[in-house]
Amino acid sequence: MAKVLLVDDDLTMLQMVAELLRQEGHDVIPFSNGTAALAALTTHTPELVITDLYFDKTRAHGLEMVQKARALSPPAVVIVITGFATIETAVEAMKYGAFDYLEKPFKVDELKLCVQRALSYNAAVSETVYLRKQLKKKYEFSQIVGNAPSMQAVFKMIERVANTDSTILVLGESGTGKELVARALHFNSRRQFAPFVPINCSALPENLLESELFGHRRGSFTGAISDKKGLFEEADGGTIFLDEVGSMSAALQSRLLRVLQEREVRRVGENTPIYVNVRVVAASNEPLETRIKEGTFREDLYYRLNVIAIPLPSLRERREDIPLLVAHFLKGNVHSDTNRPVQVTRQAMGILCAHDWPGNVRELENAIERAVALCEDGIIKAEDLPPRLLASVKAAGPAADAQLAATLPELPDSALYPLHAAPAVGSAPDGEPAGGEPIVPMKQYLQKQEQIHLNQTIQQCGGNKEQAAMLLGISMATMYRRLSGDDKEA
Ligand SMILES: Nc1ncnc2c1ncn2[C@@H]1O[C@H](COP(=O)(O)OP(=O)(O)OP(=O)(O)O)[C@@H](O)[C@H]1O
Ligand SMILES: [Mg+2]
Repeated sequence: MAKVLLVDDDLTMLQMVAELLRQEGHDVIPFSNGTAALAALTTHTPELVITDLYFDKTRAHGLEMVQKARALSPPAVVIVITGFATIETAVEAMKYGAFDYLEKPFKVDELKLCVQRALSYNAAVSETVYLRKQLKKKYEFSQIVGNAPSMQAVFKMIERVANTDSTILVLGESGTGKELVARALHFNSRRQFAPFVPINCSALPENLLESELFGHRRGSFTGAISDKKGLFEEADGGTIFLDEVGSMSAALQSRLLRVLQEREVRRVGENTPIYVNVRVVAASNEPLETRIKEGTFREDLYYRLNVIAIPLPSLRERREDIPLLVAHFLKGNVHSDTNRPVQVTRQAMGILCAHDWPGNVRELENAIERAVALCEDGIIKAEDLPPRLLASVKAAGPAADAQLAATLPELPDSALYPLHAAPAVGSAPDGEPAGGEPIVPMKQYLQKQEQIHLNQTIQQCGGNKEQAAMLLGISMATMYRRLSGDDKEA
């Protein structure tokens, strides 16, 4: 059911269409007077406007209606009806943003179909807007976790350059978050509503990559059965992310250089250039200087790409962020048997902090996902971690153990690591607990976590404590007792 604003100065028509739409279950607000209808647009904010183009003896009102309806937030979808249809009026109404055009006299089924199409179009658009918002949320800075000074520098840099059009080169080992940074750059820029188009340059053979990036003309090679837009054109107005740019062939490097210099692309087999407004973010997991020395990467292209470089630290260079990242990856993981958030023992955290993480954050993310699936009572213990981690700790011997003990809170191996306080490892001055935070006794800490969890659940249930207690699998009496900080069992 949709709210429909209907405008026609032909009263018979108005009644007939209104009746029909009501039978279809829509909420119809009919107007025979254009001025009143225009005024009602903003107060009623309809989803659909069906308007006669030539009412009140003038055409101006009809087009103004289309314009105003499209300017609403969210915009209404508009169907235009007219008595003396010509292609020109239809085109004009469409230019003003009308969705479709109905010519009088029309059949009932025609109207129904047109309304159906308009409403599903609107639903698709709202969904896209919603998904874009969600996506943006996903790539807000808060999703990039890091407290280490090297990461703080990355955040500052992203903030400073996101909204410029400069070409950016993101550098870092595999799994350090290069794509995450590229997305953050895009979704924090004025280009955020245009496409973000990622392409891995090492994943395709040269000729495929060429036609993928620049498009091709029909018949330009065997298999080119129709004209094809390239990704640069697809990304128009937005950002193209050229991942592993170092693996591009010499020929493609010179084509890319031309795009960066001229801001235009030529499809394969086509001579006419097409202007594109695309921001380029490139990434490489190896220093491009090595490739330049080898003669496999053009130096001039390197300088074009490297206008602004964002180097990402490896995870072993910022071990203090490991507990934070673990907490981040565990967020929202409630153990199905205990109904409690998954926790990590002090010993397991020690091992996680000692590992070298050649696969960086991605490797850590995978290890946590695996451990969540394997752990028995919602507590990740040493034995739930990938065996290679345990092996590397053993190999490092007691010296590494002592070093770790100094940087982690002084707790027995089996105690739960205070994840949500997430103190920074390694950054504490001598003798003080890591992060400078006072260590809270376990019981007190768990009580606090429990209260946070209770309050969050109550909030999610819109304040309904009974529903929250049911979801949590506890009685109302227990809920009240726990909320007041009393830890006796019911
Ligand atoms: N700082 C971070 N905070 C939270 N998650 C991160 C961070 N860095 C990386 N990740 C996560 O790690 C995974 C790998 O990140 P991403 O794909 O951006 O890395 P990459 O550098 O592009 O890797 P590759 O070179 O292998 O393509 C992703 O799931 C990403 O969400
Ligand atoms: Mg990547």
